[in-house]
Amino acid sequence: MKIHFDFKGESFSKADSMVFAGYTKDDVINLKSLNDKNLISEIQELKSFELFSAKRDEILTTEIAGIIHIVSLGERKGYNFNSLRITAAKLFKALNTTNAKKIAIDLDSLTLKKDAAKSLEIFLEGFLLSIYSFEKYKSEKQENKIKELIICSTDKGLKRKADKVLELVQGRVDSVNVTRDFVNEVPNVLHSVAYAKEIEKDVKKNLPGVEVKILNKAQIKKENMDLFLSVNSGSGHEARLVHLTYTPKKMKKTAKHYALVGKGITFDTGGYSLKPGNFMVNMKFDMGGSATLYGAFRSAVLAGSPNKISCILPMTDNAVNSLATVPDSVVKARNGKTVEILNTDAEGRLILADALDYACDLEPDAIIDAATLTGACLVALGQEVCAVLGNDQKLIDKLLKTAKGQDEYLWQLPIIDEWRADMKKSATADIRNIGTTRYAGTATAAAFLENFIKNDIPWAHFDIAGVCDSQAHLPYCPDKGGSGVMVRTISDFICQ
Ligand code: BES
Ligand code: MN
Ligand code: ZN
Repeated sequence: MKIHFDFKGESFSKADSMVFAGYTKDDVINLKSLNDKNLISEIQELKSFELFSAKRDEILTTEIAGIIHIVSLGERKGYNFNSLRITAAKLFKALNTTNAKKIAIDLDSLTLKKDAAKSLEIFLEGFLLSIYSFEKYKSEKQENKIKELIICSTDKGLKRKADKVLELVQGRVDSVNVTRDFVNEVPNVLHSVAYAKEIEKDVKKNLPGVEVKILNKAQIKKENMDLFLSVNSGSGHEARLVHLTYTPKKMKKTAKHYALVGKGITFDTGGYSLKPGNFMVNMKFDMGGSATLYGAFRSAVLAGSPNKISCILPMTDNAVNSLATVPDSVVKARNGKTVEILNTDAEGRLILADALDYACDLEPDAIIDAATLTGACLVALGQEVCAVLGNDQKLIDKLLKTAKGQDEYLWQLPIIDEWRADMKKSATADIRNIGTTRYAGTATAAAFLENFIKNDIPWAHFDIAGVCDSQAHLPYCPDKGGSGVMVRTISDFICQ
């Protein structure tokens, strides 16, 4: 889609359809973009009455000298930037079913808090995030009808900033879509070896200056990551560990170093603790943690984050053959602790354990991991809310605040000493890989991971099992498949 700006009101009435916004009960709508007095009075007359009673995001359409849509913003009170993002998404969906190719939008009427730049950013974000669909394997693909978007504004200050805002949002949306694509890609194509190659390809193409290191099985073995390899032992595909490093061009003294660690299980059968058939469906999404963090990393690099960022992505499937790990096995982790593997379906924490220990050696200021780690997270928080747990309340408070700023739902769950102790009740090893009960599964998984954080490095763990896909309640996310939720929050955080 071609996007450009018009600060002179020249091209507005030349579009196939023109869009204004107005609040319920407002009898005048802002039509500054329109350089045509007669047209303005006609629209005012025609539409002010209907707009008076229209519900939020309802679209009124009229044809006078071109097709004109007026989108209702509902009551002025309570309409905020998240409402704007949602309006933009609904607008895209509605307009994309009409035959209009060239759409002009009056940004003035959509501007909140007199902040034209932020309003533009949020509007574009909602609009562009809604375009996504995954049709790679469909013989018949649906083409988007809208080919051109003209953003019209009379805001003088915005003129200088508009292109920069567009570039920033485009990088962010592209990165969310990279996450969605990886999550949606099928497991017979996206195995560990292919996944690592795809990321390398994308970095080389879009993130110049980012250092790529890919460890193969022999190199992973050399790193003593036997827990990671125990998950890979039943697979026909070699494990990979992708290690990306971004260093800002000019690094200030105050710059931070963040390490991201993402679960990259390209398919989770459960291993010998095999999942029942209907629970196994969709387990291609079990690499969602790595895809989310790669998307966040990518977006932050494109935005020119002032911080150093390391991104560590362990990749394998969790499959079964005669060499696959059996329950009761004891395996030594990279950090020297022994783990009793009582359930091979609790595999994500095993690959994360070694990757977290590897990340600690980089001595970052903070570590963030993300994983589709537990079904229990869905029981606790549903599909809509992401869980965060960790060892540092300051870090978590900052993350919660950042998520709020991005209008993404994030909720903290506790790690208590009783659960820490529970994970140590192993007859044969230092720790066990599942709790002694099935309760608090999300938190006991985090209590397990905590054993692999060295030197009290501030650490936060995101369990994205719920939010990683199927976000039917978010109009800017696809109903089914990868959502890209949490890419914005984490990317925003590592840019601060
Ligand atoms: N990838 C799953 C978690 C999962 C399950 C996410 C269902 C979304 C829906 C993870 O590897 C897993 O299998 N976890 C087990 C842990 C259990 C064995 C302690 C689970 O949640 O059942
Ligand atoms: Mn599993
Ligand atoms: Zn898993």
